[in-house]
Amino acid sequence: MISIVYNVRVYRNLLKKRIKEGDVVIEIGPHKGKGTMEYAEKVKLGILVDKSSQSEEGLKNLLKNFPNLKYVKGDVRSFETIKKVLLLTKKCDVLALDIGGGRYPDTVFKVWAVWSGIFKPKHSIIRNRGLGEFVQRVKIEDDKLKKNFRNSGWLAKWGRAMPYVLKKQLEEFKFWVKI
Ligand SMILES: C[S@@+](CC[C@H](N)C(=O)[O-])C[C@H]1O[C@@H](n2cnc3c(N)ncnc32)[C@H](O)[C@@H]1O
Repeated sequence: MISIVYNVRVYRNLLKKRIKEGDVVIEIGPHKGKGTMEYAEKVKLGILVDKSSQSEEGLKNLLKNFPNLKYVKGDVRSFETIKKVLLLTKKCDVLALDIGGGRYPDTVFKVWAVWSGIFKPKHSIIRNRGLGEFVQRVKIEDDKLKKNFRNSGWLAKWGRAMPYVLKKQLEEFKFWVKI
């Protein structure tokens, strides 16, 4: 399942509801961990990926109290960051993504598509207003596109597990705006 929300409280509540006992979670953009707190106790492994020093500082207590949580500091658009996470897990039950709900749906989509293609989560939870508008306004007009897609948290038509193919894809980010 792929869930899209905008309101940050709805996002945090969904983390609480969707994440189950023993799950492996990758949370992109945890900031100071207000969403992380909702599930920290019950997961087998929670990998928190954020690029900001504010986040690194703000997560210190949570990381001390929950050894099942691991922090990876890095930009999620970079291959190096993905490699660090791959060393911690190849499996993911829930991929949660909040790198700013009001901004850049194109970047959010690409980050989600790349990460979900590699880690193949069962569920994705994405916080982004523009993507929410996009999916509501879409009408599929090509019958060949209408398929019974498996209700999982990643795109079967995108998934790329090969790191070198991925590296090429990520190089495209260089042309993108700084967020
Ligand atoms: C809106 S905050 C997340 C709020 C959080 N979900 C909560 O419930 O409190 C967005 C976070 O995404 C991080 N972020 C934005 N762009 C990023 C990127 N390219 N790579 C890694 N982290 C990023 C920011 O540093 C920030 O901590």
